[in-house]
Order: sequence, then structure tokens, then C-alpha cells
Amino acid sequence: MKLLVLGGSDFVGRSAVEHALELQWDVTVLNRGTTASDPRVTQLRGDRRASGGLDSIREGNWDMVFDTWSWEPGVVAQSAAMLAGRAGSYIYVSSRSVYDEPEAGANETWPTVQGPGEDYARCKLGGEQAAAAAFGARALLVRAGLILGPYENISRLPWWLNRIGQERSLRSDQNERAGDVLAPGPADLALQYIDARDLVGWSLGAAARGLGGAYDVVSRPGHATMREVLQACVAATRSDARLRWVEPDILSAAGVQPWTELPIWIPPGADHDSLHASDVSKAFAEGLRARPIQETVADTWTWLQSVNGEASTRRDRPPVGLSADREAAILADVERAEGR
Ligand SMILES: NC(=O)c1ccc[n+]([C@@H]2O[C@H](COP(=O)([O-])OP(=O)(O)OC[C@H]3O[C@@H](n4cnc5c(N)ncnc54)[C@H](OP(=O)(O)O)[C@@H]3O)[C@@H](O)[C@H]2O)c1
Repeated sequence: MKLLVLGGSDFVGRSAVEHALELQWDVTVLNRGTTASDPRVTQLRGDRRASGGLDSIREGNWDMVFDTWSWEPGVVAQSAAMLAGRAGSYIYVSSRSVYDEPEAGANETWPTVQGPGEDYARCKLGGEQAAAAAFGARALLVRAGLILGPYENISRLPWWLNRIGQERSLRSDQNERAGDVLAPGPADLALQYIDARDLVGWSLGAAARGLGGAYDVVSRPGHATMREVLQACVAATRSDARLRWVEPDILSAAGVQPWTELPIWIPPGADHDSLHASDVSKAFAEGLRARPIQETVADTWTWLQSVNGEASTRRDRPPVGLSADREAAILADVERAEGR
């Protein structure tokens, strides 16, 4: 199989490249060369926003294209139109953000956002429409939810791993107190996410079988809990950290921002349901599988150590994570309230 990855040097695109190489596919990537691509691929250079940026793919045939573009839909329209006669399928990595305030149980039939705008949801929806306009039923629209795994470039799981991993050298036999880590409750909060490797494995396989149309590609709701994620972080980092569970009302009163200050975590309620409670039976019926959280966390830690704990983060996203001072202040308040 011949695969063209538009991007391919970052998180999801890079996972697609590695998966295809494992399958012995012939892989070409097109990007600006800001970060090194896998040396085993054919590297093409081009800036998709610049005039002539696609010159290097004006010729050539591919079985499928894998595109992660998240910004102007016109960029997807250009590459899809150019490749429609020379590529079998167009996989567009989209997002469940295209849905208009989805509720628990929402699936691919839920209404999408309406009206004009240049926000992320409308850009992703526009990207889908551009891919479908050029490739029709040969466009596979992969609506991901939260994506975790090695190479993650938002620093959600890396933030937790680094935070919990910080505590691993503070051993009690050195008379030092291993740190308490603020763990946002409830501990059994159900999470729904996808390991990037499961996302790309399913997407490439589905496109190879000729599948097209929109699919929500995330684990089943409750595939892991907040407790399982953080305990997996403790295990992977061999940390001495003690998880101090703090209930959502206390975090809310302290002004803690879910999702950004405490990544991954969204307290129970409508926002949680919209992200962590979707119906993914369509993709599971087509063979989607989700590996255990322990594997995702351990492999992400292995990768994170290989880059000295410094995952590159996308500059178009706000930084994540709670400051050490705020965490300590909240935990001190909790201890005082508990009379400890
Ligand atoms: N993270 C999540 O939880 C989440 C959830 C739902 C959906 N998603 C979707 O998942 C995907 C993540 O994609 P990703 O991590 O592979 O990376 P990405 O940020 O979409 O793309 C980065 C890649 O594109 C290349 N690139 C950037 N600007 C370019 C330009 N002007 N011209 C040519 N190439 C350019 C980069 O290389 P150069 O810089 O070298 O050009 C890099 O290879 C996105 O589609 C996102 O919307 C993410």
C-alpha cells in the first residue's frame, strides 16, 4: 500500500507513519520540515498555506491520504481536489467537536455546529466537507474525542506523568515525605478517549477495506476511570506519590479550571457527558479496539523519558496544568478542613 501523510511528523500523523511502516507500507510525508520525520519515509517539503505549497504532490499515485489539518478548510479543499483522481481514499482526522452540544449517547447522527465562524469546530467540519466534496464515499471522516498516547502534543497525559513522576525520588527511608498529588474526583469518573495508535490502526485498516463516511473513533465510555489513569501514572513512573482525592465542589470553589488546569478531568455534568459519554457502536462494529489504559500510560512515559520529560506542545493551544503553588494551597485547605 502507498500512503501519503499530510503532516506526519507530529502526534497523530507520526503514529500513522509508524503504523504504516510496521505494515511494510510505502510512506510519503509532506510537511515544512519543522520537526524531523521518520527517516524511513519519502520526505516531501511544502507549506500548505503557501502558493505552490503542494507542488511536490502534483504527480504520483497513492492508495490513501491521511490528513490531520485543523485550521482553514480551504487548505483541505485544495489537497483533496488535487489528489481525488490519484488516491484511493482520503482519511481526514476530524473531531467530535463538530457536534453541536452533544449529550450522553450522541452518535454520528447528532446535529453538527451551524453557521459561519472560524473556530476549531467549524474548521474541522469544513475540513470534513472539503474531503467529502472531492472524494465522496471514499472520504473517511474520523471524529476523534480525547486522544492520548506517545508523542502527545497537548501535554495532557505528559503533564500528569511529569507531575506524579516528580515525587518518585522522595523516599520515606530518606526521612523525606513523598508528595501528595491533587487527584480530582470522583475517583470512579468514567473516561472516554482513544490511544492515537488505536485511532490510526483502525483508520488505515478501515480505509484499506474501502470504508467511508463519518465515524466517532474513541473508546467506549468508561474504558478507564480517573483513578485508573492516575494509578497507572504512579505505577509507570514508580512514584511514591500519594493521590489525594479532592471532590469537584471543592475544586470548583477554588476556581480550578477543568480540562486545562487539571488535564483530562471534567467533573460530572453536561460537559463531561458531551466529551466522555458518546455512543461509539458504529466504529466498534467495524473493528475498533481500545488498548488498556495501563499500556497507553506506560508507553507514553517511556517516550516522555526519551525526550527528557519535555514534550513539544502545540503553540495554537493554551498551556495546561495546575501551578505547584495553587495545588499546594488547595491541598492545605483540604487538610485544614479535615482537621489533619
Ligand atoms: N489531541 C486531541 O485530543 C484531539 C482530539 C480530537 C481531534 N484531534 C485531531 O487530531 C489531529 C492531531 O494531529 P497531529 O498531532 O498529527 O498534528 P497537527 O498539529 O494536525 O499537524 C502537525 C503536522 O502538520 C505539519 N504542518 C503544520 N503546518 C503545516 C503547513 N503549513 N504546511 C505543511 N505541513 C504543516 C507539521 O509539520 P511542519 O510543522 O514541519 O510543517 C506536522 O507534521 C488533528 O487533526 C486534531 O484536530 C485531536
